[in-house]
Amino acid sequence: MNDPLQLLTKKITKLPTIPATAHQIMNLADDESASLGKLESIIQQDPAIAARIVSFSNSALFGHTSSCTTVVCAIQRIGVNNVRNIALGISLMTLFDDGGQEHASGYQKLYHHSLVVGMLSKHIAEGSGLKRTEEYFLSGMLHDLGFLLLNRYFPGMYRKATDESAGGECLLETEKAIIGSTHAEVGAWLADKWNLPEAIWEAILHHHTPSCAKMHAKLSAVVHLADYFALRKVPASGEKSRGYPLDPASLEVLSLPLEGVGKMEEEIDRNFFSRGIFLS
Ligand SMILES: [Fe+2]
Ligand SMILES: [Fe+2]
Repeated sequence: MNDPLQLLTKKITKLPTIPATAHQIMNLADDESASLGKLESIIQQDPAIAARIVSFSNSALFGHTSSCTTVVCAIQRIGVNNVRNIALGISLMTLFDDGGQEHASGYQKLYHHSLVVGMLSKHIAEGSGLKRTEEYFLSGMLHDLGFLLLNRYFPGMYRKATDESAGGECLLETEKAIIGSTHAEVGAWLADKWNLPEAIWEAILHHHTPSCAKMHAKLSAVVHLADYFALRKVPASGEKSRGYPLDPASLEVLSLPLEGVGKMEEEIDRNFFSRGIFLS
């Protein structure tokens, strides 16, 4: 851990622990049929998560005209593994939602951005012929975990860094200068504290710099691309300056041609943004 990060994290006297719901979801067996009933009962225990899962299942993404009103219907529509990862992501993210006026709007924007990057990560992974795309969804959803933590515990520094980067400064450099660490480093630190899988930890750490990813290069590359496309369309609160340059290494890792980026963006625009799927 770098020194500034150590200093910063020492100031967090009470780090939120993983909620019981998230623990139960992580401990579910990988077997879809065995997990369905258990997943439903875990989600039912948490009305906030249940409501979000049901509303997600009714989004235009799934193209159904009839609306789901129950968790079972949502699971049948979205699939066990998808619901499991969405519920896990929501459960971890809501730890940083204090519902207070000061941080609420920052949290809502970050939550929406995270969901968009989660969905796009899964979509890009599927389009690239990758397997286990649920893992891509979760990594995309948690990629800006560091922003959530900074917004919650160090709102002053967080706002200063994001305001300066909105003025055109490089976000990561601004964070280094003001906070001492980047939101990617802070997020990876938390993922490590929570014992999240190594692949997710690495994707969080390298979502802005996928060429530095050593172990799960494809995962970091996909999350980077998803974040890049999402920010060009809707800037998140921590990444106001309409994104950052694309790391060409992410395309190489996925065997995608540089000329294909424009087409990919058009396809995402057509299938997601233009259909209103990402409206908050
Ligand atoms: Fe980021
Ligand atoms: Fe992001």
